[in-house]
Amino acid sequence: MSSAPLVDGFDRVHDSLRISVTDRCNIRCFYCMPEEGGDYVSHNEILRYEEIERFVRVAAGLGVTKLRLTGGEPLVRRDLPDLIRMLAAVPGIREIALTTNGVLLEQHAAALYAAGLRRLNIHLDTLDRERFRKITRRDDLPRVLAGIEAAVAAGFERIKFNVVAVKNLIEPDIIPMARFCRERGFEPRFIEFMPLDSQELWGRGKVLTADEMIAMIEREIGPLVAVPDRDPRAPATDYAYADGGGRLGFIASVSKPFCLNCNRLRLTSDGKIRYCLFAIEETDVKALLRSGAGDAAIAAAIRRCVADKWIGHQINSTKFVPPPRPMYAIGG
Ligand code: 5AD
Ligand code: SF4
Repeated sequence: MSSAPLVDGFDRVHDSLRISVTDRCNIRCFYCMPEEGGDYVSHNEILRYEEIERFVRVAAGLGVTKLRLTGGEPLVRRDLPDLIRMLAAVPGIREIALTTNGVLLEQHAAALYAAGLRRLNIHLDTLDRERFRKITRRDDLPRVLAGIEAAVAAGFERIKFNVVAVKNLIEPDIIPMARFCRERGFEPRFIEFMPLDSQELWGRGKVLTADEMIAMIEREIGPLVAVPDRDPRAPATDYAYADGGGRLGFIASVSKPFCLNCNRLRLTSDGKIRYCLFAIEETDVKALLRSGAGDAAIAAAIRRCVADKWIGHQINSTKFVPPPRPMYAIGG
């Protein structure tokens, strides 16, 4: 089996894998999930931890060093710390991160830290209980806030916060979220609203752009300076407060696409490899994992998927077709 790096047709080296461990979620952010129902993968179609670990071993052999666990909401999957321990032991894996909505963090923060997890992104748009309820259709802000405190107490440092920037909605939350992070030593990441929702609510006019948010923060809090990204391949563009009051990031997926730097592959909870959040096609790896295929066949499937990768999403073109599955089914 060749261990040459995973390079696509545009010379992009792929060393980062995002793994969705479930498509279920305990809240219902309107830009991701429908209010009721939804199309979920049945239990036996979801990859087992041993299957995920095997996939990661093969991917690590091809140069993948970084993992991010996502969902749906990853903490609704039972015994997630066990998976983290298994993945941390895979040779070549140097970094594991988790994206969570924080609702179940209070119960799990200490066990996640003990399992070796050090990098945490908490998805939180607002610090206002009523607005949280409107956005997520659940009254869970108090649990998220308790989860944040539990994560800090467990030892997590430089926690990041994902804020989805929907225009004509999120403006009142930008400054409170930025201030909260600045005061507590957290790093906010403001993510431009992308066409991934289950109800096709997206429109160009509904994207609050990174430049607009930067202007708001500079006006209300203080000047920002662009700083070198901690990870130049990661989607966020990093800034810092000129007065030394902390860092923040902007994910300008729509106004300034960063596809040319992409180093990411995705594994869905039902075992499909995707070369892009917006990909239309997927490569089925579960069928291989469950049919006794050898590592070489799995490696070949990963290579094929990377080789097929397109230059980037076409959100800004009239040709754009939204992916057939919503965010919760793909994994952010
Ligand atoms: N547009 C932009 N970001 C989104 N997220 C979820 N849905 C969308 C969307 N439609 C974010 C959430 C989640 C992260 C993986 O992606 O913040 O935590
Ligand atoms: Fe759940 Fe995340 Fe989707 Fe919100 S954005 S509904 S927290 S999966």
